Amino acid sequence: MAENESVMINEQEARLNTPALRVGQFASQAAVAAPAEATAAKMQVKNLNFYYGTFRALEDISLEIPERQILAIIGPSGCGKSTFLRTLNRMQDLVPGARVEGQVLLNGEDIYAPDVDPVAVRTHVGMVFQRPNPFPKSIYDNVAFGPRLHRRCKGKALDDLVEQSLRAAALWDEVKDKLHRSAFALSGGQQQRLCIARALAMEPDVLLMDEPASALDPIATLKIEELMLELAQRYTIVIVTHNMQQAARVAHRTAFFMVNERRAGFLVECDTTATIFTAPKDKRTEEYITGRFG
Ligand SMILES: Nc1ncnc2c1ncn2[C@@H]1O[C@H](COP(=O)(O)OP(=O)(O)OP(=O)(O)O)[C@@H](O)[C@H]1O
Ligand SMILES: [Mg+2]
Repeated sequence: MAENESVMINEQEARLNTPALRVGQFASQAAVAAPAEATAAKMQVKNLNFYYGTFRALEDISLEIPERQILAIIGPSGCGKSTFLRTLNRMQDLVPGARVEGQVLLNGEDIYAPDVDPVAVRTHVGMVFQRPNPFPKSIYDNVAFGPRLHRRCKGKALDDLVEQSLRAAALWDEVKDKLHRSAFALSGGQQQRLCIARALAMEPDVLLMDEPASALDPIATLKIEELMLELAQRYTIVIVTHNMQQAARVAHRTAFFMVNERRAGFLVECDTTATIFTAPKDKRTEEYITGRFG
């Protein structure tokens, strides 16, 4: 490895591994992603309760998700971050005994209204998971999977869509000569970008990401973060992360969740990332971001 390359890696690792210590320490990073101006809400969550059987995992959550911005969800393990994310595209419908109360509006329409098809919701609100989960297929077939299933296009139009999606996921140059090789031949970071390309091929409005970089090394993590910032120019993104530096680096807004005495997850506060990390309104947020619990 060239010397300057190793220096760069060390700097990036240092940036990623700094422990959280005081309010305001992420301020300069947060300023980078701070929104220039408020945008309209792409999604609105209104008085959402979520139950696994009789256990209420989410309690009375109301929150707006602005268009073409990145919203980060942070909070201690078990506070319902993943559950919340999955209520945004009805993934939780697949859990037996799961039940939702309240409303989740996408472009003003309730995705839980009786006449709404959950499969259609998931084409508008795509998801990327913690561990890259490509299908045991070629790179091309992974990206083409959704459009083929929904009979969106074929032939040259499908080729173009695959290329466009791989380009948008910043993967095209690395795979254009091996599109028909197995997706498993890619590195972890490349597989995660492939999963992002697969989600983008459905031309979603919103992209949900549940700790998308936690299984990746620092360099691959930075690539995903750069990609998220680029994608936010066109898409609305909601990301769950345990990494507060990551939230500070990429998110325009940050929502802090906790559990209450009934073990239900609730929203403590949601504000611009700069405010959450420099001047949170709630003492519990300050305690969490300064590492005093969680
Ligand atoms: N399929 C399930 N059935 C029953 N309870 C569940 C199920 N999935 C999650 N839970 C419970 O719901 C609560 C919230 O879990 P969730 O996975 O959403 O938390 P999280 O904030 O994403 O945690 P982590 O940071 O560890 O990923 C926890 O108490 C968990 O045990
Ligand atoms: Mg989780």
